[in-house]
Amino acid sequence: MYTQRDTVSLRNKKLYQFSDEILSFYRQTEESKRLTNDVRGQIEFARTQEIITRYLPNPPAIVLDIGGGSGPYACWLAKVGYEVHLVDPVDLHIEQAKEASNQQPEHPIASISLGDARALRFSSVSADAVLLLGPLYHLVDKSERLLALKEAYRVLRKGGVMVAAGISRFASLLDFFCKDRLGDSVSRDIVQSDLETGYHQNPTENLEFFTDAYLHRPEEFRSEVIEAGFQHQVTLAVQGPTWLFRSVESYWANPDQRAAVLDLIRKVEAEPSILGMSSHILAIGMK
Ligand SMILES: C[S@@+](CC[C@H](N)C(=O)[O-])C[C@H]1O[C@@H](n2cnc3c(N)ncnc32)[C@H](O)[C@@H]1O
Repeated sequence: MYTQRDTVSLRNKKLYQFSDEILSFYRQTEESKRLTNDVRGQIEFARTQEIITRYLPNPPAIVLDIGGGSGPYACWLAKVGYEVHLVDPVDLHIEQAKEASNQQPEHPIASISLGDARALRFSSVSADAVLLLGPLYHLVDKSERLLALKEAYRVLRKGGVMVAAGISRFASLLDFFCKDRLGDSVSRDIVQSDLETGYHQNPTENLEFFTDAYLHRPEEFRSEVIEAGFQHQVTLAVQGPTWLFRSVESYWANPDQRAAVLDLIRKVEAEPSILGMSSHILAIGMK
């Protein structure tokens, strides 16, 4: 078991403070089941896999899964032939990723280590692709997000691809209406602050309200990717509006209807007016 203080030592030159709130949140929640437990998670997983497949070079290739959590994407990519290196700052996730990798001994994750997106231990120009599916929405200062994006840029080879996830500025507002929370003043305050600043905080003990995060406007997410040096390829909606509707749960259970749901999301995935409606968005950058 890793012992972890609240800092992660990186490249022997800088210690980045990893947020106590975020660490505590992930130690108390079941992140390892998030993408499989319910339909919302399953749609996010299926769509993210679809988009990753579209933009990654064919295997074999080296993929760094930074903020890889308990390893859902790393395990899948290792299974289809990639050399995957997973990094995450949460000790529990590292343990879970190791267990998950051990379950597929023929295709293990190549390395699993405690670390932080702001300073990677990988050499410059050493990776074909970098996934940042988590770090950017947990780094609440723009300067810190740029550090993470520039690290991704540094480790990529020329022509390499980055797939980065953001959470929409409007996600908590939409969730608020979806869950009928108008009478809940704490919830309303959180949403109001999210809309004004993008900085999401959870002042309660209720883990449903997530933890420290930055909620991006889609165009702002794109600009940060460009500011870090990437050629921005596209920003795409992961689930589009599907997460807001109960009906999608029954559609998802039926294979034909599931295919129709995915097809419809795909049709609107790049529409600027849909991006803000999708709880998750993915920006694709190329070095
Ligand atoms: C919601 S989870 C997503 C995990 C997985 N990538 C996925 O998409 O299912 C967000 C992940 O980002 C990680 N994370 C947060 N801040 C980070 C940072 N500064 N550097 C690297 N990872 C970070 C968390 O530990 C967590 O595993």
